[in-house]
Amino acid sequence: MIVLGIETSCDETAASVVGPSGVLSDVVHTQEIHREYGGVVPELAGRAHAERIVTTATAALQRAGVEKPEGVAATSGPGLMGAVLVGLCFGKAAAIGWGVPFVGVNHLEGHLLAPLLEDEPPSFPFLSLVVSGGHTTLYLAKAVGEYEVLGQTIDDAAGEAFDKVARMLGLGYPGGPAVDALATRGNPQGVSLPRPDPGRRLGNAVARRGANLARRPLDMSFSGLKTAVKTHLERNALYGTADPDTAASFQAAVADVLCQRIERAMKETGIRRVALGGGVAANSYLRERVQALDAAVTLPPRSRCTDNGSMIAHVGRLRMLMGQRDSWSTTAQANWVPGT
Ligand code: KG4
Ligand code: ZN
Repeated sequence: MIVLGIETSCDETAASVVGPSGVLSDVVHTQEIHREYGGVVPELAGRAHAERIVTTATAALQRAGVEKPEGVAATSGPGLMGAVLVGLCFGKAAAIGWGVPFVGVNHLEGHLLAPLLEDEPPSFPFLSLVVSGGHTTLYLAKAVGEYEVLGQTIDDAAGEAFDKVARMLGLGYPGGPAVDALATRGNPQGVSLPRPDPGRRLGNAVARRGANLARRPLDMSFSGLKTAVKTHLERNALYGTADPDTAASFQAAVADVLCQRIERAMKETGIRRVALGGGVAANSYLRERVQALDAAVTLPPRSRCTDNGSMIAHVGRLRMLMGQRDSWSTTAQANWVPGT
């Protein structure tokens, strides 16, 4: 089955064609308009998707040499609702026009299963860490559509922390790649920063009170780390300066936290197959660290970690092959836990 996948949940207008042999085309247009505002402006994102969606999808079909796909999938949440709706409505309209089935895809499930597109995909069950601009969650992926949340951030997402720290370092938007580049010149041990462990702290406090609703040992927190970076920069009159040691040390702290949670999850579950997805998984330092873990690690190429259409086409295709068809009244969902 050949499926056209559409992704418009944030600031990438993306389309891809995926078939039995894998990815046939993958077209991503990153909206530049947000740079001057230092972050994504939802209203502008929606308009820019509307401008680009037809040419992006057409290019994906042309590059794949496909005139008419056998199914259409589009991200239907979570994300910026005005942005999601553009791709969702386009996808449904295209499917109606072609007379083919349509499936709405959870963006996070796209990231979660993107590693399955690799040459040596992990077999189920595997641990999947999704680290993006809006989410940081460690899942146990048991089968397509069956995911258990083992731990997640209790405040900022890792990508959000990268973007905020980038701003403190006087770097532009998007912040993650800029911090990544600056950090190559810095010392990861140069600045002493915390490695927050909310599960441990809260688990003990809650256990003392006898309650059973503890934060999990695999939960994460990045807000305190971000504040520690701010305090360090202010104390040393470095705020707004592109200081390589701060960038490298911040990255090292994020990587330590993420790798430690993966190690704990491997110990807890006995599963040593690990996959990563989401924009932060494009980070050079994190990639090195994760590859050094004593585990079978599947790390998609950078272009398949950041938002793309192939992960959406892929999940849509898997679901269509399982018999799923969504109705024409399918709409956008702001809060949608993968697998529900
Ligand atoms: O998955 P994604 O493209 O979009 C969301 O679903 O959010 O992730 C975007 C996030 C942004 O916060 C961006 O700064 C971060 O991923 N990011 C990176 C890198 N490339 C993108 N963070 C660290 N290092 C990178 N190389
Ligand atoms: Zn994403």
